[in-house]
Amino acid sequence: METIVKIIVVSPIFIATCCSLSIETNENVLITLYTKNSNPKQMNDKNIYTVDTSKHTIFIIPGWRSYTNETWLMNLTRNYFEKGDFNVFIVDWTNYSFSYNYLKSYNKVGDVGKVVANSILMMTGSSETFLNNVHLIGHSLGAHVCGFVGQEVYKVAFYKLARITGLDPAKPGYETPMKIGFRYRLTEYSAQFVDVIHTNGGVLGFAGSMGTADFYPNGGGPTQPGCAVMDEVCSHRMAYYFFMESILSNNFVAKKCASWDLFSQGKCNKSQKAVMGESVSLTTRGKFFLKTNPQPPFAIII
Ligand SMILES: *[C@@H]1O[C@H](CO)[C@@H](O)[C@H](O)[C@H]1NC(C)=O
Ligand SMILES: *[C@@H]1O[C@H](CO)[C@@H](O)[C@H](O)[C@H]1NC(C)=O
Ligand SMILES: *[C@@H]1O[C@H](CO)[C@@H](O)[C@H](O)[C@H]1NC(C)=O
Ligand SMILES: *[C@@H]1O[C@H](CO)[C@@H](O)[C@H](O)[C@H]1NC(C)=O
Repeated sequence: METIVKIIVVSPIFIATCCSLSIETNENVLITLYTKNSNPKQMNDKNIYTVDTSKHTIFIIPGWRSYTNETWLMNLTRNYFEKGDFNVFIVDWTNYSFSYNYLKSYNKVGDVGKVVANSILMMTGSSETFLNNVHLIGHSLGAHVCGFVGQEVYKVAFYKLARITGLDPAKPGYETPMKIGFRYRLTEYSAQFVDVIHTNGGVLGFAGSMGTADFYPNGGGPTQPGCAVMDEVCSHRMAYYFFMESILSNNFVAKKCASWDLFSQGKCNKSQKAVMGESVSLTTRGKFFLKTNPQPPFAIII
């Protein structure tokens, strides 16, 4: 049985004191907190208030048919702990996302977003200081869940989350066969800063620019170096491999350019540079291109 969490909003002050926010009532979305020095803790309506909200806080939302015990998630978390002391929350929505029926998972994206938004709001009411410290990272369908989280948080707090990173946000149901409006997917309006890494654009991934800054490694796909042509899953995953590496490296340097063709012709050699990944400057705007190696380390030092 599933319960859809309802938020009743009167004012931000009401939120802080009333009982309408809940994460426990949705057993299909489990949120687990990982920290550097203690064991993973599954969040519920009681312990959510004990989170140390002075720390930089990351939420990772995997995509369709992704288990939360996959090594890329563990490696991503480990890399953050190597970098510093963070709260890393991993959102398990496999009860919805592991269905072979994509449409079933797709239809739950908004509900999952609400549960995650509630958990963020419950941590500190609607503290702007805390929201300025929150970074969501979503892969594929999980990137659109992040879009909903951003929208829900804004609806309640009248303030945007600091950052969302979309790792090859899903295309099916968002870009084609139908085009979905900005309220129903990840967009540049979903957070104060939205960076997107496109790696399987046009097949599993969204090809068009959709963030504050859009990065197109090797043209954004559909095929990435190191992946076979038609191995869409391999190229779709490259977004998180690049991001994982970027947590400990500032070497993914991209150039602003209108297209991959112009970039490949060297026409953008002298244009503005931007670092792709975790260390992107939050003032970056526009479309950026870069080449990578076919295997780790993926970044090419230029
Ligand atoms: C999934 O559903 C089962 C059965 O309803 C439940 O026991 C479990 O807690 C749910 N959540 C997850 C994340 O598996
Ligand atoms: C991850 O979890 C799934 C489902 O619980 C299980 O079948 C699989 O063996 C696990 N994989 C690893 C690497 O632990
Ligand atoms: C995770 O990290 C280990 C150890 O560095 C590495 O051997 C493995 O290939 C990584 N796996 C993924 C999926 O990134
Ligand atoms: C652009 O840079 C590449 C790599 O450094 C170089 O091979 C190419 O000749 C340059 N092209 C132009 C038009 O400057």
